[in-house]
Amino acid sequence: MRKETILFVATSLLVALLGTFLNNSYFQLIPPKLSKNMAGLSPLDPSSYSRPEIAIVTNIELNLSVSFEKKIFTGFVDLHVQKVQEGADEVILDSKDLNITKILETELNTEVKYTIDEPFGEFGSKLTVELPNKNSKDYVFRIEYETSANASGLQWLSPDQTSGKKHPYLFSQFQAVHARSFLPCQDTPGVKNKYAATISAPPQLTVLMSAIRDRTRELHDGKLFHFVQDVPIPSYLIAIAIGALESRKIGPRSHVWAEEEIIEQSAFEFANTEHQLQTAESICGPYVWGIYDLLVLPPSFPFGGMENPCLTFVTPTLLAGDRSLVNVVAHEIAHSWTGNLITNRNFEHFWLNEGFTVFIERKILGRLLSPQDQDFQAMEGLAELKDAVKRLGADSPLTRLVVDLKGLHPDDAFSTVPYEKGQTFLRYLEEAVGGPSVFEPFLRKYFDTYKYESIDTVDFKTFFIKEFCPCGKDNKVKQIDWDLWLYGTGLPPYIPDYDKTVGEISIHLFETLSSWNETAEPTPVIADDVKYMSASQIIYFLQLVLDAPTVWSILKLTEIQRIFELEKNKNSEIKLRWLRICMKSQWEEKIADVLFWLNEVGRMKYVRPLYRDLYAWESARYKAIENFKANKKYMMHVSAYTVEKDLHLNE
Ligand SMILES: *[C@@H]1O[C@H](CO)[C@@H](O)[C@H](O)[C@H]1NC(C)=O
Ligand SMILES: [Zn+2]
Repeated sequence: MRKETILFVATSLLVALLGTFLNNSYFQLIPPKLSKNMAGLSPLDPSSYSRPEIAIVTNIELNLSVSFEKKIFTGFVDLHVQKVQEGADEVILDSKDLNITKILETELNTEVKYTIDEPFGEFGSKLTVELPNKNSKDYVFRIEYETSANASGLQWLSPDQTSGKKHPYLFSQFQAVHARSFLPCQDTPGVKNKYAATISAPPQLTVLMSAIRDRTRELHDGKLFHFVQDVPIPSYLIAIAIGALESRKIGPRSHVWAEEEIIEQSAFEFANTEHQLQTAESICGPYVWGIYDLLVLPPSFPFGGMENPCLTFVTPTLLAGDRSLVNVVAHEIAHSWTGNLITNRNFEHFWLNEGFTVFIERKILGRLLSPQDQDFQAMEGLAELKDAVKRLGADSPLTRLVVDLKGLHPDDAFSTVPYEKGQTFLRYLEEAVGGPSVFEPFLRKYFDTYKYESIDTVDFKTFFIKEFCPCGKDNKVKQIDWDLWLYGTGLPPYIPDYDKTVGEISIHLFETLSSWNETAEPTPVIADDVKYMSASQIIYFLQLVLDAPTVWSILKLTEIQRIFELEKNKNSEIKLRWLRICMKSQWEEKIADVLFWLNEVGRMKYVRPLYRDLYAWESARYKAIENFKANKKYMMHVSAYTVEKDLHLNE
């Protein structure tokens, strides 16, 4: 616990009082932006109601059974709670759309009183549980409950939405604040718990969780799956998937899981996982999670990958057939240290998770490929960052490395900024201290010092300064403008001089086609080596076309399509940029391709920009909105929620 706690507790009591006082229907009419903390959200974490500084959850044991007919989980969770503050008489938890029927203190075997406040915006409801009189600081509460069919962290698929078409499927996505729709908990990354779970499911299906698979038991009408996660994790890393799943061993500590129809493809695509893991360990230290499995989800999974411990979730859009997109796996592996071992205390410090992870991901690729490739990836990332800053506005508070989330849902603040601006900052720090030979040992020490903890930006800064100062006045470390980097808006104040070797061919092709006057000149001769461009080089070329100040003619685009045989392309990153270019050039006949893809995938990295592009093009806007409305019910909550905003449907 940190020093600020006393002050925070004083204010939070006041806020809590106000919260109870104002908790009536009139209060609910005030728009969320104005009410901010008054809704009872924590001063330590503006996205959570929970108050671990008063009483903290120390262990979680889930016992649930799934019903695919009702799209719910039913059962109970045992929460071990420890009183932190002398005289505390309640523990405060997060919940969202949960139907709680009973709360029992199991050691006293008495029912306890609890209150569930009115839900507030997307944050769900504050759940206050009374701490009964007891000669101990420790409690175990058994909360009997069921989830709701529209739980924002769960995606239910009917058989026809799966590859096999025979069985239903369920998967979760809890980051940032959706664990509370699966279980009552302190849904803040500032709290870390071990967890165990017993889940019962229909006999044909397999249950997987972000934990070690402990044992399975056959029941007369189903199967019972038991899991343990013995490394303390934040609630957003609890994860579950249930479906007709197969597995293939792809390494000494790894299996890949997927539906039968794509299992071979998946095993091929991710065959290098162990090699990536070992490379990560050589940079970061020992891997503490035991197993590293991958689960390839159905296409509606909203992210590229999610670093659920022991079981990374990935989108099937990574199955390019040539292993060209496995950098996402390097990213998720890197999270085993940055994010999962050391966790941001709340999502205002998300760059501590993502900026570090991108930085490590590129170090892994640098080791596996070459330092030139490492820089090339960073250049591509920079292009994406420029895109984001242009869209958000260079003075937008969301372009800060450390953001202010008071009154703002983390899903609304999500962008590439913490990822790419974060990695740029770390690259800058690395240069300032004297390069990788100095910075990498520092990183190891940082991981070792803060493992199993949740920290914020000030903790990192303090640790960094302690390690590298005192130092001479002229030392570069003294010249770091922390405030500008951490709280300044817009692009990073310094852009490293990345090695451009790998990108040269892309730049050259871009310049050749740029200067071609297609109405007056014959098609320029394209050098033969363009045929051998890697997927990354094609992606970078397309990114340059997309970012170009001029709009390219359809004639030019047809030439690009021919050169790279884009009709046959299976790489989703290429496809994204290609379709965006087509929309930028208002190529009518490609709208159908865009809509088709939008209805197939749920990955927000693809769906959101394409919907925004369609929206920006007036004659496509109506089609986009109609398409979204018709398909919204097949999208996961977080995708639908954000696209709805991109299409300005809730204003
Ligand atoms: C392309 O060539 C035509 C015909 O010579 C000319 O009118 C036009 O301005 C040129 N376009 C550009 C962009 O230079
Ligand atoms: Zn990440």
